[in-house]
Amino acid sequence: MTTPTIELKPSARPTSAGEREAILANPGFGRHFTDHMVTIKWTEGRGWHDGQLVPYAPIPLDPATNVLHYAQEIFEGLKAYRRPDGSVATFRPDQNAKRFQRSAKRLAMPELPVETFIEACDALVGQDKDWVPAHGGEESLYLRPFMIATEVGLGVKPANEYLFLVIASPAGAYFAGGVKPVSIWVSEDRVRAVPGGMGDAKTGGNYAASLLAQAEAATHDCDQVCYLDAVEHQWVEELGGMNLYFVYGDRIVTPTLTGSILEGVTRDSLLTVARDLGYTAEEGRISLDQWQRDSEDGTLTEVFACGTAAVITPVGTVKRSTGAEWKQSGGETGEATARLRQALLDIQRGITEDKHGWMHPLG
Ligand code: COI
Repeated sequence: MTTPTIELKPSARPTSAGEREAILANPGFGRHFTDHMVTIKWTEGRGWHDGQLVPYAPIPLDPATNVLHYAQEIFEGLKAYRRPDGSVATFRPDQNAKRFQRSAKRLAMPELPVETFIEACDALVGQDKDWVPAHGGEESLYLRPFMIATEVGLGVKPANEYLFLVIASPAGAYFAGGVKPVSIWVSEDRVRAVPGGMGDAKTGGNYAASLLAQAEAATHDCDQVCYLDAVEHQWVEELGGMNLYFVYGDRIVTPTLTGSILEGVTRDSLLTVARDLGYTAEEGRISLDQWQRDSEDGTLTEVFACGTAAVITPVGTVKRSTGAEWKQSGGETGEATARLRQALLDIQRGITEDKHGWMHPLG
């Protein structure tokens, strides 16, 4: 089956420059959307077809559409950055495309070719490039590719029709308070994912499953929830929507991928960036008791969370159900966290050399 090319059908009435600039002055996260979206259909027996770039608009769905009932849905998140010369580039879109394929396989959905995924993102960013915030700040254009099962019917089975879409949203800081240390509630009873489950797939169900524990975190005055493994309830896995890193002086450690942890692109990139900066960077198992002990005796110097949306966010306070509570790096942003954050952002914004070939320039 051949890959569709994307037919451009741009809006006749895009947002005015004044209105767009007002939005870009304070974009927040996921609150505003650009003028266009890309849609590509998949039908059994026909494959991918009807790739289009069209004005951003609601998508009509029959109430019996499969995804509304059984959640056969996957998504991605990646960013486009404005570089010093005014050009635009996305960060490692091939990695998101490959993870999208892995998620599709896990959810029994068709795999979109990597080049089609990238072509769709390029088409949208190319059309809406005025929505990519200016170089200089940390703002970017967040791309949200996703796929839903569109077959109409209530049978529980893989659908015979799907819709792939890409939408885009100008993004500032993910957390409303900007880049400042977040507080973490460690959930010692609720789990996010189980061995053999779909924790490593980027699917809405994993995020829906995280909301109750996230609400519990809020009742403990915490910004985010941290999950432990589902079997022994002691090994640190990840936050509701971000991976974790532990800093032991010049050694940084992130929980080993076990199948129930999302394979974050930022997580993966930081293993390399950290080594470039002279840190020892590795994957390993960290228990909650060890986290507490190593923080209290000072060997664990910093902890941070990472993800596309939040980039790198320092962890300031940790609370657990035993009543124990401690501060990381005195509740401030640690030195390694700040260095890694800056190094990654400098690559993404085209300030330092892209020696790993991660940036995908447009046009
Ligand atoms: C991302 O970092 O891109 C995420 O997917 C996290 C969240 C916004 C769902």
